[in-house]
Amino acid sequence: MSVIFDTRGRGLAEGVAAAVAALSRGELVAMPTETVYGLAADATNGEAVARIYAAKGRPRFNPLIAHLPGITEAERLVVLGGEARALAERFWPGPLTLVLPKREGAPVADLVTAGLDTLAIRVPAHPVARALLTAFGRPVAAPSANRSGHVSPTRAAHVADDLGDRVAVILNAGPTAVGVESTIVGWDRGAPVLLRPGGLARAEIEAVLGRPLGTIEGDATRPLAPGMLASHYAPAAAVRLNAAEVREGEALLAFGPILPADAGRAAAVVNLSARGDLIEAAARLFAALRELDGKAATIAVMPVPGEGLGEAINDRLARAAAPRS
Ligand code: TXA
Ligand code: MG
Repeated sequence: MSVIFDTRGRGLAEGVAAAVAALSRGELVAMPTETVYGLAADATNGEAVARIYAAKGRPRFNPLIAHLPGITEAERLVVLGGEARALAERFWPGPLTLVLPKREGAPVADLVTAGLDTLAIRVPAHPVARALLTAFGRPVAAPSANRSGHVSPTRAAHVADDLGDRVAVILNAGPTAVGVESTIVGWDRGAPVLLRPGGLARAEIEAVLGRPLGTIEGDATRPLAPGMLASHYAPAAAVRLNAAEVREGEALLAFGPILPADAGRAAAVVNLSARGDLIEAAARLFAALRELDGKAATIAVMPVPGEGLGEAINDRLARAAAPRS
Protein backbone atom coordinates (compact mmCIF):
# COMPACT_ATOMS: atom_id res chain seq x y z
CA MET A 1 0.00 0.00 0.00
CA SER A 2 2.94 2.28 0.41
CA VAL A 3 4.59 4.00 -2.53
CA ILE A 4 8.31 3.24 -2.73
CA PHE A 5 10.76 5.69 -4.31
CA ASP A 6 14.33 4.79 -5.15
CA THR A 7 16.18 7.91 -4.00
CA ARG A 8 19.50 6.73 -5.44
CA GLY A 9 18.35 7.78 -8.88
CA ARG A 10 15.70 10.00 -10.34
CA GLY A 11 13.27 9.09 -7.57
CA LEU A 12 14.87 11.53 -5.13
CA ALA A 13 13.03 14.76 -5.95
CA GLU A 14 9.74 12.99 -6.59
CA GLY A 15 10.11 10.88 -3.44
CA VAL A 16 10.89 13.84 -1.21
CA ALA A 17 7.91 15.75 -2.63
CA ALA A 18 5.60 12.76 -2.03
CA ALA A 19 6.99 12.34 1.49
CA VAL A 20 6.46 16.03 2.33
CA ALA A 21 2.87 15.79 1.04
CA ALA A 22 2.24 12.64 3.12
CA LEU A 23 3.72 14.18 6.29
CA SER A 24 1.59 17.28 5.75
CA ARG A 25 -1.52 15.08 5.61
CA GLY A 26 -0.56 13.46 8.93
CA GLU A 27 0.59 10.21 7.31
CA LEU A 28 3.70 8.16 8.05
CA VAL A 29 6.86 8.02 5.93
CA ALA A 30 9.85 5.66 6.08
CA MET A 31 12.88 7.95 6.18
CA PRO A 32 16.41 6.64 5.67
CA THR A 33 19.01 7.93 8.11
CA GLU A 34 22.66 6.94 8.40
CA THR A 35 21.84 4.80 11.47
CA VAL A 36 18.56 2.98 10.75
CA TYR A 37 15.34 3.73 8.84
CA GLY A 38 12.96 5.92 10.82
CA LEU A 39 9.15 5.87 10.93
CA ALA A 40 8.53 9.57 10.44
CA ALA A 41 5.57 11.77 11.29
CA ASP A 42 4.96 15.52 11.62
CA ALA A 43 6.06 16.14 15.22
CA THR A 44 3.70 19.12 15.52
CA ASN A 45 0.63 16.95 14.76
CA GLY A 46 -0.50 14.87 17.75
CA GLU A 47 -2.67 12.51 15.73
CA ALA A 48 0.14 11.87 13.26
CA VAL A 49 2.45 11.02 16.17
CA ALA A 50 -0.24 8.75 17.65
CA ARG A 51 -0.19 6.84 14.34
CA ILE A 52 3.49 6.04 14.93
CA TYR A 53 2.63 4.27 18.18
CA ALA A 54 -0.33 2.52 16.57
CA ALA A 55 1.78 1.33 13.61
CA LYS A 56 4.62 0.06 15.79
CA GLY A 57 2.22 -1.67 18.16
CA ARG A 58 4.09 -0.15 21.10
CA PRO A 59 2.41 -1.12 24.36
CA ARG A 60 3.40 2.17 25.96
CA PHE A 61 4.34 5.73 25.07
CA ASN A 62 8.15 5.99 25.00
CA PRO A 63 9.39 9.47 24.16
CA LEU A 64 10.48 9.93 20.54
CA ILE A 65 13.36 11.76 18.89
CA ALA A 66 12.61 14.98 16.98
CA HIS A 67 14.68 15.16 13.79
CA LEU A 68 15.79 18.53 12.46
CA PRO A 69 18.04 19.84 9.69
CA GLY A 70 20.38 21.81 11.96
CA ILE A 71 21.37 23.50 15.19
CA THR A 72 19.44 26.70 14.35
CA GLU A 73 16.18 24.77 14.13
CA ALA A 74 17.09 22.89 17.35
CA GLU A 75 17.51 26.13 19.29
CA ARG A 76 13.88 27.05 18.62
CA LEU A 77 12.74 23.91 20.45
CA VAL A 78 15.29 23.30 23.20
CA VAL A 79 17.88 25.07 25.33
CA LEU A 80 21.45 24.11 24.45
CA GLY A 81 23.84 24.47 27.37
CA GLY A 82 27.58 24.87 26.89
CA GLU A 83 28.38 21.16 26.74
CA ALA A 84 25.40 20.39 24.51
CA ARG A 85 26.46 23.12 22.12
CA ALA A 86 30.01 21.79 21.96
CA LEU A 87 28.71 18.30 21.14
CA ALA A 88 26.22 19.59 18.59
CA GLU A 89 28.84 21.71 16.83
CA ARG A 90 31.26 18.81 16.70
CA PHE A 91 28.95 15.88 15.86
CA TRP A 92 25.86 17.25 14.07
CA PRO A 93 24.86 16.20 11.54
CA GLY A 94 25.57 12.66 12.72
CA PRO A 95 24.54 9.70 14.89
CA LEU A 96 24.21 11.64 18.15
CA THR A 97 20.93 12.45 19.92
CA LEU A 98 20.85 15.04 22.70
CA VAL A 99 18.13 15.11 25.38
CA LEU A 100 17.65 18.76 26.33
CA PRO A 101 15.20 21.02 28.21
CA LYS A 102 12.23 21.76 25.97
CA ARG A 103 11.38 25.42 25.49
CA GLU A 104 8.03 26.63 26.78
CA GLY A 105 5.52 26.52 23.93
CA ALA A 106 7.84 24.64 21.55
CA PRO A 107 5.66 23.43 18.66
CA VAL A 108 5.98 19.71 19.40
CA ALA A 109 3.05 17.42 20.25
CA ASP A 110 2.93 16.17 23.87
CA LEU A 111 3.02 12.62 22.57
CA VAL A 112 6.56 13.15 21.20
CA THR A 113 7.98 13.73 24.68
CA ALA A 114 5.41 11.45 26.37
CA GLY A 115 4.71 14.38 28.64
CA LEU A 116 8.34 14.97 29.69
CA ASP A 117 9.81 18.47 29.86
CA THR A 118 12.88 17.34 27.94
CA LEU A 119 13.05 16.71 24.20
CA ALA A 120 15.44 14.39 22.33
CA ILE A 121 16.91 16.05 19.20
CA ARG A 122 18.85 14.50 16.37
CA VAL A 123 20.27 16.07 13.23
CA PRO A 124 20.86 13.15 10.88
CA ALA A 125 23.67 13.18 8.32
CA HIS A 126 21.94 11.13 5.63
CA PRO A 127 21.41 13.28 2.50
CA VAL A 128 17.88 11.95 1.93
CA ALA A 129 16.87 12.63 5.55
CA ARG A 130 18.38 16.10 5.25
CA ALA A 131 16.56 16.80 2.00
CA LEU A 132 13.27 15.70 3.55
CA LEU A 133 13.73 17.67 6.80
CA THR A 134 14.73 20.82 4.92
CA ALA A 135 11.83 20.55 2.49
CA PHE A 136 9.27 19.78 5.20
CA GLY A 137 10.38 22.63 7.45
CA ARG A 138 8.93 21.19 10.66
CA PRO A 139 10.34 18.79 13.25
CA VAL A 140 9.87 15.14 12.37
CA ALA A 141 9.31 12.52 15.07
CA ALA A 142 10.85 9.19 14.10
CA PRO A 143 11.53 6.03 16.05
CA SER A 144 13.16 3.11 14.27
CA ALA A 145 10.76 1.86 11.59
CA ASN A 146 10.10 -1.61 13.00
CA ARG A 147 7.18 -3.15 14.80
CA SER A 148 7.64 -3.23 18.57
CA GLY A 149 9.95 -6.09 19.57
CA HIS A 150 11.46 -6.49 16.09
CA VAL A 151 15.00 -5.44 15.20
CA SER A 152 15.66 -2.00 13.74
CA PRO A 153 15.50 -1.80 9.93
CA THR A 154 18.67 -1.09 7.98
CA ARG A 155 17.08 -1.62 4.55
CA ALA A 156 13.89 -0.35 2.93
CA ALA A 157 12.75 -3.95 2.44
CA HIS A 158 12.78 -4.47 6.23
CA VAL A 159 10.40 -1.55 6.60
CA ALA A 160 8.15 -2.79 3.79
CA ASP A 161 7.97 -6.25 5.42
CA ASP A 162 7.27 -4.90 8.90
CA LEU A 163 5.14 -1.81 8.28
CA GLY A 164 4.38 -1.70 4.56
CA ASP A 165 0.65 -1.35 5.10
CA ARG A 166 1.10 1.49 7.60
CA VAL A 167 3.40 3.91 5.77
CA ALA A 168 2.29 6.09 2.88
CA VAL A 169 5.76 6.53 1.39
CA ILE A 170 9.02 4.58 1.68
CA LEU A 171 12.17 6.41 0.64
CA ASN A 172 14.58 3.66 -0.38
CA ALA A 173 18.19 4.77 -0.07
CA GLY A 174 19.74 1.31 0.14
CA PRO A 175 21.38 -0.16 3.24
CA THR A 176 22.13 2.28 6.06
CA ALA A 177 25.81 3.01 6.70
CA VAL A 178 25.98 2.92 10.51
CA GLY A 179 23.46 0.16 11.13
CA VAL A 180 22.84 0.82 14.84
CA GLU A 181 20.80 3.61 16.39
CA SER A 182 22.23 6.96 17.43
CA THR A 183 24.07 7.41 20.71
CA ILE A 184 21.88 9.29 23.20
CA VAL A 185 23.36 11.76 25.71
CA GLY A 186 21.47 13.69 28.36
CA TRP A 187 22.28 15.65 31.51
CA ASP A 188 21.36 14.55 35.01
CA ARG A 189 21.62 17.46 37.47
CA GLY A 190 24.32 19.02 35.31
CA ALA A 191 26.34 15.85 34.69
CA PRO A 192 26.44 14.35 31.18
CA VAL A 193 25.14 10.78 30.98
CA LEU A 194 25.10 8.13 28.29
CA LEU A 195 21.45 7.14 27.93
CA ARG A 196 21.97 4.73 25.04
CA PRO A 197 25.19 3.55 23.41
CA GLY A 198 24.99 3.79 19.65
CA GLY A 199 26.67 4.81 16.42
CA LEU A 200 28.96 7.44 17.98
CA ALA A 201 31.57 6.05 20.38
CA ARG A 202 31.56 7.13 24.03
CA ALA A 203 35.29 8.00 23.84
CA GLU A 204 34.70 10.53 21.04
CA ILE A 205 32.06 12.28 23.10
CA GLU A 206 34.18 12.24 26.25
CA ALA A 207 37.10 13.73 24.33
CA VAL A 208 34.98 16.78 23.47
CA LEU A 209 33.51 17.06 26.97
CA GLY A 210 36.82 16.59 28.73
CA ARG A 211 35.11 14.46 31.35
CA PRO A 212 33.57 11.00 31.47
CA LEU A 213 29.96 10.29 30.64
CA GLY A 214 28.03 8.94 33.58
CA THR A 215 25.71 5.99 33.31
CA ILE A 216 22.24 5.86 34.74
CA GLU A 217 22.10 3.02 37.24
CA GLY A 218 18.74 1.48 37.90
CA ASP A 219 17.39 1.87 41.41
CA ALA A 220 13.99 2.85 42.73
CA THR A 221 14.44 6.54 41.99
CA ARG A 222 16.49 6.22 38.78
CA PRO A 223 15.03 3.58 36.51
CA LEU A 224 17.33 2.04 33.92
CA ALA A 225 15.40 2.47 30.73
CA PRO A 226 16.29 5.42 28.55
CA GLY A 227 13.33 7.70 28.36
CA MET A 228 12.71 7.18 32.04
CA LEU A 229 15.55 9.47 33.15
CA ALA A 230 13.29 12.32 34.10
CA SER A 231 10.23 11.05 35.88
CA HIS A 232 7.19 10.98 33.67
CA TYR A 233 4.62 13.66 34.29
CA ALA A 234 2.29 12.52 37.03
CA PRO A 235 -0.77 14.57 38.00
CA ALA A 236 -0.91 15.93 41.55
CA ALA A 237 -4.57 14.91 41.69
CA ALA A 238 -5.55 11.34 42.54
CA VAL A 239 -6.64 9.34 39.50
CA ARG A 240 -9.58 6.91 39.71
CA LEU A 241 -9.63 4.48 36.79
CA ASN A 242 -12.59 2.80 35.08
CA ALA A 243 -15.00 5.18 36.75
CA ALA A 244 -18.60 4.12 36.15
CA GLU A 245 -19.89 7.45 37.44
CA VAL A 246 -18.56 10.85 38.50
CA ARG A 247 -18.61 11.56 42.22
CA GLU A 248 -19.26 15.00 43.69
CA GLY A 249 -16.21 17.23 43.25
CA GLU A 250 -14.33 14.99 40.83
CA ALA A 251 -13.00 16.10 37.45
CA LEU A 252 -13.90 13.83 34.55
CA LEU A 253 -11.53 12.47 31.92
CA ALA A 254 -14.02 11.08 29.43
CA PHE A 255 -13.85 8.75 26.45
CA GLY A 256 -16.89 8.50 24.19
CA PRO A 257 -20.37 9.81 25.04
CA ILE A 258 -20.83 11.40 28.50
CA LEU A 259 -23.98 10.97 30.60
CA PRO A 260 -25.58 14.38 31.30
CA ALA A 261 -25.71 13.59 35.02
CA ASP A 262 -21.94 13.00 35.08
CA ALA A 263 -21.24 16.16 33.10
CA GLY A 264 -23.37 18.10 35.57
CA ARG A 265 -21.63 16.70 38.64
CA ALA A 266 -18.05 17.03 37.36
CA ALA A 267 -15.89 19.94 38.49
CA ALA A 268 -14.31 19.95 35.01
CA VAL A 269 -14.55 17.72 31.94
CA VAL A 270 -12.14 16.85 29.15
CA ASN A 271 -13.18 14.29 26.57
CA LEU A 272 -10.26 12.37 25.05
CA SER A 273 -12.46 11.56 22.08
CA ALA A 274 -16.20 12.09 21.98
CA ARG A 275 -16.40 9.75 18.96
CA GLY A 276 -14.38 7.05 20.71
CA ASP A 277 -11.33 7.30 18.43
CA LEU A 278 -8.18 5.94 20.08
CA ILE A 279 -5.80 7.89 17.80
CA GLU A 280 -7.50 11.14 18.76
CA ALA A 281 -7.53 10.06 22.43
CA ALA A 282 -3.79 9.31 22.44
CA ALA A 283 -3.04 12.68 20.87
CA ARG A 284 -4.97 14.45 23.65
CA LEU A 285 -3.97 12.34 26.64
CA PHE A 286 -1.08 14.30 28.16
CA ALA A 287 -2.64 17.73 27.66
CA ALA A 288 -5.90 16.41 29.12
CA LEU A 289 -4.21 15.19 32.31
CA ARG A 290 -2.46 18.54 32.71
CA GLU A 291 -5.65 20.47 32.09
CA LEU A 292 -7.68 18.55 34.70
CA ASP A 293 -4.90 18.48 37.28
CA GLY A 294 -5.53 21.11 39.93
CA LYS A 295 -9.21 21.45 39.03
CA ALA A 296 -10.23 18.73 41.48
CA ALA A 297 -8.65 16.49 44.11
CA THR A 298 -9.53 13.44 42.03
CA ILE A 299 -9.76 12.78 38.30
CA ALA A 300 -12.32 10.11 37.43
CA VAL A 301 -11.33 8.31 34.21
CA MET A 302 -13.93 6.55 32.09
CA PRO A 303 -12.94 3.12 30.76
CA VAL A 304 -10.82 3.16 27.60
CA PRO A 305 -10.87 -0.01 25.46
CA GLY A 306 -7.62 -1.97 25.55
CA GLU A 307 -7.17 -2.76 21.86
CA GLY A 308 -4.80 -0.95 19.51
CA LEU A 309 -3.52 2.31 21.00
CA GLY A 310 -5.78 1.66 23.99
CA GLU A 311 -3.05 -0.53 25.46
CA ALA A 312 -0.58 2.35 25.61
CA ILE A 313 -3.25 4.78 26.81
CA ASN A 314 -4.24 2.43 29.63
CA ASP A 315 -0.59 1.85 30.54
CA ARG A 316 -0.12 5.61 30.91
CA LEU A 317 -3.34 6.03 32.89
CA ALA A 318 -2.33 3.19 35.22
CA ARG A 319 0.98 4.98 35.89
CA ALA A 320 -0.87 8.22 36.57
CA ALA A 321 -3.10 6.34 39.04
CA ALA A 322 -0.28 4.44 40.77
CA PRO A 323 0.62 5.50 44.31
CA ARG A 324 3.83 7.52 44.26
CA SER A 325 6.58 7.77 46.79
O1 TXA B 1 19.27 6.37 15.23
C1 TXA B 1 18.24 6.69 15.81
O2 TXA B 1 18.25 7.32 16.86
C2 TXA B 1 16.91 6.26 15.17
C3 TXA B 1 16.77 7.00 13.85
C4 TXA B 1 15.47 6.72 13.17
O3 TXA B 1 16.94 8.38 14.07
N1 TXA B 1 15.81 6.52 16.04
C5 TXA B 1 15.58 5.79 17.18
O4 TXA B 1 14.41 6.13 17.85
O5 TXA B 1 16.32 4.90 17.56
P1 TXA B 1 13.73 5.20 18.97
O6 TXA B 1 12.39 5.81 19.25
O7 TXA B 1 13.75 3.79 18.53
O8 TXA B 1 14.62 5.42 20.22
C6 TXA B 1 14.56 6.67 20.90
C7 TXA B 1 15.15 6.55 22.27
C8 TXA B 1 14.26 5.77 23.22
O9 TXA B 1 15.04 4.85 23.96
C9 TXA B 1 13.69 6.85 24.12
O10 TXA B 1 13.38 6.35 25.38
C10 TXA B 1 14.80 7.89 24.14
O11 TXA B 1 15.26 7.86 22.82
N2 TXA B 1 14.30 9.23 24.42
C11 TXA B 1 13.56 10.01 23.63
N3 TXA B 1 13.23 11.17 24.25
C12 TXA B 1 13.79 11.11 25.47
C13 TXA B 1 13.81 11.98 26.59
N4 TXA B 1 13.16 13.16 26.58
N5 TXA B 1 14.49 11.59 27.69
C14 TXA B 1 15.18 10.42 27.70
N6 TXA B 1 15.18 9.53 26.67
C15 TXA B 1 14.50 9.88 25.58
MG1 MG C 1 13.76 1.51 18.34
